[in-house]
Amino acid sequence: MKKIRIGVLVSGRGSNLQAIIDNIKKGEVSAEVAIVISDQADAYALERARKHAIPAVHVSAKGYKNRREDYDNALVQELRKHGVELVCLAGFMRIISPALIKAYPGRLLNIHPALLPAFPGLHVQKAALEHGVKFSGCTVHFVDEGMDTGPIIIQAVVPVLDNDTEESLSERILAQEHKIYSRAIQLFAEGRLKIEGRRVTASGGETSIDKFLINP
Ligand code: GAR
Repeated sequence: MKKIRIGVLVSGRGSNLQAIIDNIKKGEVSAEVAIVISDQADAYALERARKHAIPAVHVSAKGYKNRREDYDNALVQELRKHGVELVCLAGFMRIISPALIKAYPGRLLNIHPALLPAFPGLHVQKAALEHGVKFSGCTVHFVDEGMDTGPIIIQAVVPVLDNDTEESLSERILAQEHKIYSRAIQLFAEGRLKIEGRRVTASGGETSIDKFLINP
């Protein structure tokens, strides 16, 4: 199968990036990471990419004087230079402008550490604990112009335990993030995702409704 060229946008630690790289190496994802771009110079994610000989650049938002569109156009230029077909936001802590969305319509994914539409935004594991939910999880979705509002591709559920802290819950969710982002990319690469309004379906998948905590 042809490998899809992905561009990964990051701001920090890059554990999701690492999981994608590892799953590609294991042959579970038919993709090649063509470029990693960070808005933070010291993001550990850049180092992770370089260790695997993946081009990795810091594109600073300074100098764009709060003009999100100009910054995003700079990102688009970099992504196009590397022949990127699918853009994956992986802990990229900036709000995306229409410039990026229009350049990659239906080809822009994000991962979020909650079961959207519950708990969009930041510090969401803390918010889930404070709200007292019994389950949380993570979501991979297409990016639209809202904040964490785009069509949902895949979700994984985790229980919230009585003795959880923000750290322990985040860690449990992160372990699932590392599985579902790769799965979403693979479904995309195989051309199996269909968006109809807000609903995304994955053709050819099997669901066993009693068992699954990851869907599809
Ligand atoms: C992940 O938990 C991701 O879901 C979250 O940031 C973390 C990045 O970790 N993203 C957001 O909150 C986006 N709003 P990582 O750098 O180790 O992949």
